[in-house]
Amino acid sequence: MASVTSLSDSVHQRLAAALSAALPQAGSADPLLRRSDRADFQANGILALAKKEKANPRELATQVVSGVESGELIKDVEVSGPGFLNITLTDGAITRNLAARYADDTGRLGVPHAEQPGTTVIDYAQPNVAKEMHVGHLRSAVIGDAVVQLLEFTGENVVRRHHIGDWGTQFGMLIQYLEEHPHELDHKADETSGEEAMSNLDRLYKAARGLFDADEEFKTRARRRVVDLQAGDPRTLAMWQKFVDESKIYFFSVFEKLDMEIRDADIVGESGYNDMLAETCRLLEESGVAVRSEGALCVFFDDIKGPDGNPVPLIVQKSDGGYGYAATDLSAIRDRVFNLKANSIIYVVDARQSLHFKMVFETARRAGWLGDDVKAYQLAFGTVLGKDGKPFKTREGETVRLVDLLDEAIDRASAVVREKAQDLSEAEIAERGTQVGVGAVKYADLSTSANRDYKFDLDQMVSLNGDTSVYLQYAYARIQSILRKAGASRPAAHPELELHEAERALGLHADSFAATVAEAATEYAPHKLAAYLYQLASLYTTFYDKCPVLKAETPEQIENRLFLCDVTARTLHRGMALLGIRTPERL
Ligand code: ARG
Repeated sequence: MASVTSLSDSVHQRLAAALSAALPQAGSADPLLRRSDRADFQANGILALAKKEKANPRELATQVVSGVESGELIKDVEVSGPGFLNITLTDGAITRNLAARYADDTGRLGVPHAEQPGTTVIDYAQPNVAKEMHVGHLRSAVIGDAVVQLLEFTGENVVRRHHIGDWGTQFGMLIQYLEEHPHELDHKADETSGEEAMSNLDRLYKAARGLFDADEEFKTRARRRVVDLQAGDPRTLAMWQKFVDESKIYFFSVFEKLDMEIRDADIVGESGYNDMLAETCRLLEESGVAVRSEGALCVFFDDIKGPDGNPVPLIVQKSDGGYGYAATDLSAIRDRVFNLKANSIIYVVDARQSLHFKMVFETARRAGWLGDDVKAYQLAFGTVLGKDGKPFKTREGETVRLVDLLDEAIDRASAVVREKAQDLSEAEIAERGTQVGVGAVKYADLSTSANRDYKFDLDQMVSLNGDTSVYLQYAYARIQSILRKAGASRPAAHPELELHEAERALGLHADSFAATVAEAATEYAPHKLAAYLYQLASLYTTFYDKCPVLKAETPEQIENRLFLCDVTARTLHRGMALLGIRTPERL
């Protein structure tokens, strides 16, 4: 009941019906409707159809026009050019449709759920145990979270998986060092902060590495430790668990700073598939998908060759018996398909791992684990660049810590908020500064398509002008301030009123929120939603310049404009929430 048919869908239905009445042999032909500058919509589908059916396009178009009744919805349809249709809606239809969205008290603005939701497993936000989080982990977390929100909003059943790097040879070194220096991870107080946890790990990692490189006997003991770990020795496992727990304290603190909910139960790292690794290898070898080559278990591909022209295999098991990244990922696919019953598996991972995923997916297809009914897709993201256009590094040439970057963004944003703040307390400035700063970082990441590199430029990100989250947040806050001033709660719509051009443009765009969300969700493309929201805010700005709200001519017009303001605000709020960005009520 709450779901609302969008205006473009209604027009589409009318045109499609008129089209198939005019040309029955064409069946259910698509009139190809889109927004247009000349009228509200333009239909371009008639030309191609006429050509295909050997009809005269202008004649066909004229016939379609006579089959479309004008009335409540459509004010005017006319043929233009060689056979396009220009469609203008009535003002009342726009207002009424928005009013129906506004009346949806679920907060979904009338956006329908998908008719046949499936199960999507999404692999994102996967930092590595005992290591710092850097900007690459930012991208995976931010993009992944937005895709989760978008998919869940459409009604998809989403299973989140944080495939953290918690397994492998370096743990032998770390555990052995901790065994020999047992108090290194002890906390001074009961409560450890995330930063403290990381600095403990970092110190321990450096010390262990130093010893490993300098002391042959320690090296031997460390190597033995890896074997113990993979064999499941309880004492070794307990020590390994300490590293994982300590790291999680840190991860959670960073995710909290990112204003992102990550649930412990969804953290299933590489170690989570340990029990499946041997079987994965056995199945691959028995089916002939993988073969032994110089002792290692390998999968070969015709089209994947190294620079020397020799085939590059996917190594599933090393010649010393150790399992690597590929074995874990292949086992995870089996789990995701057969236990979690995924219809789609998405990996939000750096584009530099594309070859790995290409080989892993192909192997899983050959093994029959990924059938035609399961989609496996790497949502590959590009590199974060510094202002110089090179991969983002500190002045000292080190990778930038994610927390430092967030802190700096929050500082800058707080300065912007403070400068504009009129009646905000220090505590409010701090809170808004965080919401604006974190929002700026997320928005910059989400507003370009994921596969592209982008420049990390804080000056641009917290700018009030241009395609930034701050601009959107200010648009939202300005609307709230108008609504407060008017003392309006739930202003009523007045469909009988004529609309100004700027009101129509804003209204039509607000109505297309549902279509945008559906498109962004199916294409895993949050940047499409970001672009939509930016345009919504821009159209609002134009509306606000052209159409006085509180000083409009009649009480009905005031109320209708307040209603338009509120619909815009709610759409901004909902859309930004889908991107993981807050919209403070006051700025
Ligand atoms: N931990 C890895 C990294 O930091 C990303 C894991 C990606 N997911 C996967 N299933 N391989 O690069």
